[in-house]
Amino acid sequence: KQSVKLIVGNWKMHGVSADVSEALALKEGLAGAPPSCRIALCPPATLTDRLRRVLADSAVEVGGQDCHEKASGAFTGSVSADMLADAGATLVILGHSERRAAFGETDADVAAKVEAAMAAGLEPIVCVGETLEQHEAGQAVAVVSAQIAGSLPDGLSERDFAVAYEPVWAIGTGLTPTLEQIAEVHAAIRTAMIQRLGEPARRAPILYGGSVKPDNAAEILAVPEVGGALVGGASLKADDFLKIVHAA
Ligand code: G3H
Repeated sequence: KQSVKLIVGNWKMHGVSADVSEALALKEGLAGAPPSCRIALCPPATLTDRLRRVLADSAVEVGGQDCHEKASGAFTGSVSADMLADAGATLVILGHSERRAAFGETDADVAAKVEAAMAAGLEPIVCVGETLEQHEAGQAVAVVSAQIAGSLPDGLSERDFAVAYEPVWAIGTGLTPTLEQIAEVHAAIRTAMIQRLGEPARRAPILYGGSVKPDNAAEILAVPEVGGALVGGASLKADDFLKIVHAA
């Protein structure tokens, strides 16, 4: 195992106060066998502070799932990066395909949010990925390369950040690309990151996301240039998430 993997759980719009017990179970599950990876949970914004308190004496970090590009203002319903940081978040997922598809976020919108995260001292996790139609047309590399070029702002390479490759057709479907396809796209993402930001972009991890489960995590995490995992459904139950953490 070469470097420390980053394993991030994205709870999406799941989680009420009762589900804090899953974070507690995760902490207790890690107590006996400290993991060799870095771990974060990204709950709905309402649970950020609760999870931060529950996880306070563990190595598990808390993150956001999105942020507004401005620090504050008349933006009813929005949460800023500063607010997430204030609630205890250390990272924030940006440009998730569900935000791009359902909320019309463009690469430029994502880049502006990444800048807001940087200003708030949050580590951005920038998501890219092709749709099923683009995948079947053989456009995965072209699509993610363009998303990288447009979504990573200047100066990002001087900060800690991560990229997540999430093929849209693999999210929540139980389908995953072949290990060869994951390797090919991750290598292309690395090339695009270096073209955009220069050599320092080599140290940012590229996570894979899309139907990562306890039974496929080890083989996916062993693929070259896979620096971790962005886990949706399997992060909701501490038992499943722990198995993925231990596969890293
Ligand atoms: O952010 C997480 C991803 O969208 C993956 O979700 O593991 O449920 O497929 P999933």
